[in-house]
Amino acid sequence: MKFFIDTANLEEIAEAQALGVLDGVTTNPSLMAKEGITGEANILAHYQKICDIVEGDVSAEVISTDFEGMVKEGEALAALHPQIVVKLPLIADGIKACKYFSDKGIRTNVTLVFSAGQALLAAKAGATYVSPFLGRLDDISTDGLNLIAEIRQIYDNYGFETQILAASIRHTMHVIDCAKIGSDVMTGPLSSITGLLKHPLTDIGLAKFLADYKKGNQ
Ligand code: E4P
Repeated sequence: MKFFIDTANLEEIAEAQALGVLDGVTTNPSLMAKEGITGEANILAHYQKICDIVEGDVSAEVISTDFEGMVKEGEALAALHPQIVVKLPLIADGIKACKYFSDKGIRTNVTLVFSAGQALLAAKAGATYVSPFLGRLDDISTDGLNLIAEIRQIYDNYGFETQILAASIRHTMHVIDCAKIGSDVMTGPLSSITGLLKHPLTDIGLAKFLADYKKGNQ
């Protein structure tokens, strides 16, 4: 399973990259705003900085909601760097734009997916990635993991190459459950990755190994 980090914070991206397990980055307009990145030129420059830190795919989301606007924005984003993946919302014009970009060989991430039917549409439009929002479904007492499982089954039934990018990951158990289901990618906060390191028996065991070494090597 690929690990993407879901942030526009350069320090966090660098920390995840330094761990050696990072495969890419996802951003969205809210995450960019959180970092105070505003204005087209600053936004493009920030994507460039992210691409300089990581080696993998960097999802950059369009703001337009009409086909022509999405195509214009997406082409500018894709031209910025080969690592950029154009992120499009799952609305009718987003699906049209996804088909347009996939026909041109430009990679896409169809976002804001909350149903298996939406994921089927994105795959038919040739999306590189589809982003079902697991945590936001859980937030409204709906089984987000079940959606990942449904999409996995549908894509496997027909051999769709669209990769399932489990998004809106909130914690380590989401990561593990998505891996069990067979999600191709997960994107979450830094804590969802570094949290996987933690186990008290690892800490206790290491302390004992080091203490025993010290005793025998005084
Ligand atoms: C997906 O690409 C989104 O950026 C993201 O995962 C949304 O997560 P949230 O529900 O925690 O905002």
